[in-house]
Amino acid sequence: MPRTVLVTGGAGFVGSHTCVELLSSGHEVVILDDHSNSSPEALERVAKIAGRPIAATHVGDVRDRRTLDAVFTRHPIDAVIHFAAKKAVGESAQIPLAYYDINVGGTTALVSAMHDHGVHRLVFSSSCSVYGDTTIVPLSEESPVAPTNPYARTKLTCERILADVCRHVPELRVLALRYFNPAGAHPSGLLGEEPHGVPNNLMPYLAQIAVGRREELSVFGDDYPTPDGTGIRDYIHVVDVAEGHRVALDHIDDEPGMRVFNLGTGRGASVLELMRAFQDASGQPITYRVTDRRPGDVAELVADPSNVYNAWGWAARHDLAAMCRDAWHFQRQNLYGYAP
Ligand code: UFG
Repeated sequence: MPRTVLVTGGAGFVGSHTCVELLSSGHEVVILDDHSNSSPEALERVAKIAGRPIAATHVGDVRDRRTLDAVFTRHPIDAVIHFAAKKAVGESAQIPLAYYDINVGGTTALVSAMHDHGVHRLVFSSSCSVYGDTTIVPLSEESPVAPTNPYARTKLTCERILADVCRHVPELRVLALRYFNPAGAHPSGLLGEEPHGVPNNLMPYLAQIAVGRREELSVFGDDYPTPDGTGIRDYIHVVDVAEGHRVALDHIDDEPGMRVFNLGTGRGASVLELMRAFQDASGQPITYRVTDRRPGDVAELVADPSNVYNAWGWAARHDLAAMCRDAWHFQRQNLYGYAP
């Protein structure tokens, strides 16, 4: 059923790819983004790929109640996908209050506005980092949570707030999707990951080295209890993550209340494995230096993706080579990202 979907953070990396999916499936899309880590150009490209316009774009802060009231008053929103948040593990240890303010304060402001405007469907962008330091992989949704950094704690706090609100608002339906590590880019080469400033995440950093914008990779520790000593993550193609959101919307009315699902592939790759895969995809040499561990990092996070498959028949389709190929394609076509 086509819906009018408010996408907060819709110009960001996962948000923009999700908007392509939604538009291509016939949904109307309204965006709220403050462009603190995104570019309006991404939205031009979303419409170009989908061959359909975005219904409306509001530039503003998700914590601002007046902005939220204006959005919900002007558009017949019947579902919300909430991406707008800060997401860098290392930075979150340096500016924790900003993380709580934006991630938790943004979520409570949004849910409160949704409630007041009679909107009861929410897909929430959560993170595998809520599982924290664990020796048991793969991680199912029933695995214990033990976040190790402020970013991860903000995501877990939001999940708990949403579960509490669901207990008191029977018509509310919330799907919290715990993504593992979104990577790659749209195969068109038009959309990709272009963080402002120095990339915090591994894949965009590798892409910027390969294209000659950065010198060498700092590998944050090679003394983890993993086969090559570097951190293992479950990288998942951003187009798969985007599709997961579209499928989530299709199933949001299946049950009331709060449900939590992993979005991952079930396959892990170490920092050095990803680096080699990127070298293969790009044909560019990548030099690296091992440095200290990054505070808040953990050894290994790999999903057990079976619950979402059993519930919705959905599974990630792309492998690491496809993620590297598409990220490289985007970076090569867009040397300085969305900058003109
Ligand atoms: N890493 C490096 N060097 C870098 C950057 C990262 O060695 O320059 C290592 C990290 O130590 C980690 C792995 O690469 O072992 C992945 O790190 P990322 O920063 O790319 O991603 P995280 O695992 O820290 O995950 C975070 C959030 C996720 C989010 C993801 C992508 O926890 O919720 O970023 O945004 F999905």
